[in-house]
Order: sequence, then structure tokens, then C-alpha cells
Amino acid sequence: MTQPRYYFTGDNDKVNLDFGNLGFDYHPCPYRFEAVYELGVWRARGVVEETAMTLPEGSQCLHYGQQLFEGMKVHTGADGKVYAFRPAENANRMNEGARYLQGPEVPVDLFIRGVEEVTRANLPYVPPYGSGASLYVRPFYLGIGDNVGVKPASKYVFRIFVTPVGPYFNGGFGPDQGKSFRISEFDRAAPYGTGHIKAGGNYACSFKPCAEAKQEGFAEAIYLDPKEHRYIEEIGAANFLAFKGESLITPDSHSVLPSITRRSLLRIAREIYSWPVEERLIDKAELDEIDAAAACGTAAVITWIREVADGEKTWSFPFDQRWQQLYDSLVGIQTAAIDDPFGWRHEIK
Ligand code: PLP
Ligand code: COI
Repeated sequence: MTQPRYYFTGDNDKVNLDFGNLGFDYHPCPYRFEAVYELGVWRARGVVEETAMTLPEGSQCLHYGQQLFEGMKVHTGADGKVYAFRPAENANRMNEGARYLQGPEVPVDLFIRGVEEVTRANLPYVPPYGSGASLYVRPFYLGIGDNVGVKPASKYVFRIFVTPVGPYFNGGFGPDQGKSFRISEFDRAAPYGTGHIKAGGNYACSFKPCAEAKQEGFAEAIYLDPKEHRYIEEIGAANFLAFKGESLITPDSHSVLPSITRRSLLRIAREIYSWPVEERLIDKAELDEIDAAAACGTAAVITWIREVADGEKTWSFPFDQRWQQLYDSLVGIQTAAIDDPFGWRHEIK
């Protein structure tokens, strides 16, 4: 790691945070990265200090939800280097969203440069190897301007902040850390709407189902397909995985966010473990035949599902050692504890 040209003196010592006991909370870091799009070009402002943003009151992101965000993680490796995990995939997914919301794409190079610069700038906040924590990277995209009409903005802000985080669900991963989830009667996305992009509006409408699940003691809501309320879709901000016999199965749906963690785990399952993998509809009734279930995502990593409740009915699932294998491979690759046969680690030099 080259010494950042930013603004800490002395060694790259870590800040005095209890990295081993962080939850998924916002700890402000000193620097963020920002770029602005106007008149057809992106202009990188680079690393800036202000957490507060000043936006025109008519901005499309404020009124009409022309907004996107991403989530990815940076880890300190076993070799002491600092790595982002598949950042180009996040850039591509954000650009899928930008095309849908009729805004300009963020050049992948600019996106990755932003991730690198903001990480380097905040190096003392990158959790050390072995702490179990990581630096959560939150790129986001806003349509802004003086406007009142329902139309896309002509000006955009792309910004990335970072914050050191621990597990998304309390306790993280482990055979004694199974979580219970409740099937919601509400939807987070329309059948052919915006479920497949990471638009903020998909999350505002998940607050109510999530709050209801939590009031009843569950960790999160599980969504069914919005057309028939029959097939399993996803779990809060995570995708659904299950083992049925030998096979790793996961829902195939337009309204599910295409998870980069899920894609990575399916590839590990196929190519490292030679397990059969099926992306297909999963009828809720099939929960009767499933051997093990889990949620996966950048924040959730892999969280094994101990219980799914649907009204009065409850399904219980044991911890399956295969979750441990998938977890060890994924986190091992992310943290350079094992080889990276897929070229997923992106070293931040
Ligand atoms: N599903 C939703 C709705 C999410 O917000 C996320 C988080 O990004 C995921 C799934 C998991 O996706 P990824 O593995 O790319 O983080
Ligand atoms: C992620 O896993 O990166 C997410 O975006 C989850 C959540 C914090 C919205």
C-alpha cells in the first residue's frame, strides 16, 4: 500500500475503534469521494471532507426518487494488503440502474478510482485482518437540479462514503447464529418494476414489512413474488439460498436484486465444490422439502436461516456444514486467506 497523499500523519496506524465489536452502524470517516455530472461530462471533485451535501430544493432525487446506491466491502488481507471485492460488478449494477432511471452512466474507471481514493484516504479506518470487521463502501448517485417536472435530471452527483462495519445481523455467521424470518404479505417491488436495480425507493417501502417482522421478534421480512405471492423472492436486503438434497437452489426472478455475493457463491459451489446449482422458481410450499436455507449479501455475507414463519406455520432448518464451506471460501478469497482462482480481489495500492 503506497502512503496516501491524504491527511494523516505518521504511520498508517488504525484509529481507536473497537473493530472486533462493531455492528452494522455508521461511524463517520473523515473523507468521501465525489464527482459531478453536468453538460455531458463527469468532473471528479476527488476526495472531500464535508459529510453534509447541499442540493437544489427541486432535485429529482428528493421528489421523484431518481437515486441509486451500491454496497461493497474492503478488507485487510492476511498478507497485509487492502482489497476491494469485485468493484466493477457494483459499477455495472449501478449503471444498469442509471440506464433504467434515464441518467448518465458512471464510467467504471471513475467508479473504481473513487473506491480506491476514498479507501486510501481513510486507511486508518480500514479494519485490521482478523477483526471480523470490514470497511463498508457506499457509492450513491443522485439526480439533482432546479426542477419541478416529472423528468430525469440534467445534473448528477456520484459520491462514495465509507464506514467500518461488523455483522449486519447480530452475531454474524456460525452454527449457533441461526436467524428467524417472517414471510411478509407486502411487496418490495412490482413484477416488472425496479426490484432488479438498487434504487432507494425499493428500500423505503421495505421499512413497514421489516418493522412488522422485527416487532414480532424476527430478524427481517421475507418477500414472495409480487404477482402471485407464491414463490420466494428475497429477504430484506439479501438474496435467498437453499440446499435441496445435493443442489444449491436460488430464486430466478426479475424483481430480485441480482446479488454479487449470490453470483460469487454459486460460482464457488459449481467450480470449487462441484455442487449442482439451480436458479429457478422456488414455491413457498417447497420449503417442506428444503434441507437448509440461508440469506446472502454484501452486508449479510451468509446468514443461515433457522426458521421461516408464515402466519401460523413455521419451517425449521438445521445448520448445514455446506454454509460453512461456502462462507470460508468466500471470506477466504475476500481476505486473501486463500487463493483467488476467479480474480475477484482488487488490490488497493
Ligand atoms: N437484495 C437486496 C434487496 C439488497 O439490497 C442486497 C444488497 O446489496 C442484496 C440482495 C445482496 O446483494 P449483494 O450481494 O450484491 O450485496
Ligand atoms: C448490502 O448488502 O450492501 C446492502 O446494500 C444491504 C443494506 C445495507 C441495504
